[in-house]
Amino acid sequence: MTSPAARTATARSCANIAFIKYWGRRDHALRLPLNGSISMNLDSATTTTTVAFDSALDADQVTILDTETTEKAARRVSEHLDRVRAQAGIATRARVVSRNSFPMGAGIASSASAFAALTAAACAAAGLRLSERALSILARLGSGSACRSIPAGFVEWHAGEDSESSYAEMIAPPEHWDLRDLIAIVETAHKEVGSSKGQELAGASPFGAARLAAAERGLPIVRRAILERDFKTFGEETEQEAIRMHAVALTSRPSVLYWSPATVRIMHAVRAWRADGLPAYFTIDAGANVHVLCQGADADTLAARLRHLEDVQAVLCNRPGPATWLIDEHLGID
Ligand code: PMV
Repeated sequence: MTSPAARTATARSCANIAFIKYWGRRDHALRLPLNGSISMNLDSATTTTTVAFDSALDADQVTILDTETTEKAARRVSEHLDRVRAQAGIATRARVVSRNSFPMGAGIASSASAFAALTAAACAAAGLRLSERALSILARLGSGSACRSIPAGFVEWHAGEDSESSYAEMIAPPEHWDLRDLIAIVETAHKEVGSSKGQELAGASPFGAARLAAAERGLPIVRRAILERDFKTFGEETEQEAIRMHAVALTSRPSVLYWSPATVRIMHAVRAWRADGLPAYFTIDAGANVHVLCQGADADTLAARLRHLEDVQAVLCNRPGPATWLIDEHLGID
């Protein structure tokens, strides 16, 4: 039952795939990254979240549909609601219901879309009207990569000097470039080492400093390649950066190995197809699934080839996605 004092809002956010990655932080509490990063929102991988503040509740109630809502996940949501409550000057508890359009914890950034949608829905339900930049900063405090799911299309997260200057903004709108991300799903189970933990371990890699310098050199290369729709330069730098990030993960203490044998087989397949004249590059997040990047004209051919690989359970095809948006806002009595 919803009490008359309830304030409800629903928001939807896209997951995003990073071309220059966020891997390692200089401030863990504030989730300030070591380097800036660049990503694209994924239009078919979304989280939809409803937040209802209700004065009849004495604790937050969190439900993540289609999966078990762990105590840890519920606590992280509640802590994020505390940030929104602090900004809004309220103490009311909330009911939160969230649903993903894709498998959780498998290398599609579910925490990015989850915390972006939670931030937008909670702020709207609390009556907070924030700028895109302020929403991005708030989302970052929940999960770093979530700040990049607030703006539309192709997005850059500025590392910044402090919390106020560490936010994401659009580089180019979704319609700027018909770039595709075909996610070859080889694993749908929860990964053993979550990205938050991986971010903490990254500092212990002897390759950390070299990767950081290379990522910083990569930022203007990828930004320019997106603006000029230069697929070759874009793909080469993006694939290199994925290898660099995983080199850091592999050499962390303890070592983090996200790849499965299927991951490596797809990496080889993409390189073989490319050598054969099909322009495609891969990137991989903190999981075993492979994101294969191509341009619109090659998407059908590539998706068919990926589906033929024996390890591939499904191929999730994405175009550049929109900004976080409010689907429904309902203030007061329903
Ligand atoms: O925001 P987190 O802590 O889930 O980290 C995301 C890490 C990667 O997806 C591997 C890289 C990135 O920039 O999205």
